[in-house]
Amino acid sequence: MAIAMTTGYSAQTEGALLCIKAASDWALTCVNQLAVADSHVLIDYGAADGGTAVGLWNQVLDSLHANQPNAHLTLIGNDLPSNDNNALANNLALQIPRNPKPTVLVSARSFYEPSVEPNSVSFGFSATAMHWLSTSPGPLDSHTHVQASGDADALQRFTAQAMKDWNHILELRSRELRVGGRLLTVNLSRDEAGLYLGHNGGKTRNVHDQLHQIWQGMAKESLISQEQYKQGTVLNFYKSPEEFMAPLKNESSAAYRNGLRLVDERTVYVKCPYRRRWNENGDTADFAAGLMATIRSWSRHSFASAAGDAAADTVFERLQQRIAEAPSEWSLDYVEHHQMMKKVT
Ligand SMILES: C[S@@+](CC[C@H](N)C(=O)[O-])C[C@H]1O[C@@H](n2cnc3c(N)ncnc32)[C@H](O)[C@@H]1O
Repeated sequence: MAIAMTTGYSAQTEGALLCIKAASDWALTCVNQLAVADSHVLIDYGAADGGTAVGLWNQVLDSLHANQPNAHLTLIGNDLPSNDNNALANNLALQIPRNPKPTVLVSARSFYEPSVEPNSVSFGFSATAMHWLSTSPGPLDSHTHVQASGDADALQRFTAQAMKDWNHILELRSRELRVGGRLLTVNLSRDEAGLYLGHNGGKTRNVHDQLHQIWQGMAKESLISQEQYKQGTVLNFYKSPEEFMAPLKNESSAAYRNGLRLVDERTVYVKCPYRRRWNENGDTADFAAGLMATIRSWSRHSFASAAGDAAADTVFERLQQRIAEAPSEWSLDYVEHHQMMKKVT
C-alpha cells in the first residue's frame, strides 16, 4: 500500500528538519571521502517536497564542489508518484544557481524499486522515510501501531516484513552505488530501551496510544465500522540498531555480496521543537495546532485510506483537542538511527 504525506509537508515538520540537520556532519563526511571523478550523482530517497533538505544539499553540493571543482554534479530527489513531486522539483531547482550549476532530476518511483542505473550513485541519502513498509504483513486488529500494540504475533510478522524490506532496500542501493560510493540512512528507530518516535518512556503520553484511543473511541461511537477500525494501521516499523546493521553483518546477504559495508552507526535523539516552543511561550493553541499538524503529516493517510477523509478529519480534531486540554503531557520526540555505509567492490 502506498503512503502519502499531507501537502505542505515541510511547513508542518520542523522535527524532520532538525533530524536532517543532526545528520549533516556525516553527510559531509561521506562526500568529503569521495574519490575525484568527472561527475557525481547524489540522490535523496523519500524526499517528500524536498523542503526539509534544501540546507543539507546546499552544504553537500558546496563541499563537493570545493573538493572537486571540475566534477559535474547531479542531484536526484526521489519519492512516490503520489508525492507532491512538483514541489519537490521546485525545491531541488533552488540548487541550480549555485556552482557548479548542478543538474536536478525527480525520480517519482518507490525506493523499493531500482531508481537509477547500476554503479552510478556516489552519495545516497535518506531521512525519516525508510520505516514505511512495502506491504501489509497481515492484520493488526487491536491497535493502530504494532509497536505500541503488545500483540506478539503481529509484532513478529511486522518485524519479519521490516527486515525483508530493509534487506531489499539495501540490496537495491548496493547495486546503484558505484564502487567507493557512500550511503547514509537516517531512519526513525527504536533504541535499546525500546523508545521510538512518540514514545519517550512515559515522560509524556505515547502518541501512538493516543491515536489508537481516538480511533477506538470512534469505533465505539459507530463513527467508523469494526472493519474500518481494524484497517486503520500505520504501516511502518521502527527498527533497532542491530536490525539496521544485520544485512551488513551477514556476509551472505545480497547487499553484503554486492560490496556494501558498514562504516559507522549511532542513535540520535531530537526533542520535539513544538514542545520546546510551548515551554518557552506557553501558547497552548499554537502548540496544539502545530503538534497535531506534524503528527497528521505522517499518519493521516492510514486513517483516510481505512475510513475516508471525514473520519480522518475527526481523528485530528480530537487529537488537537486532547493536546490543548493537557499540553504538558505531550511531546513528539524523535529517535533516529544514522548508518553510514560504503561500497567497496
Ligand atoms: C516523513 S517524510 C520524510 C521526508 C524527508 N526525507 C524529511 O526527512 O523531511 C517520508 C517520505 O517518505 C516517502 N516514502 C514512503 N515510502 C516510500 C517509498 N516506498 N518510496 C519512496 N518514498 C517513500 C513518503 O512519500 C514521504 O514523502
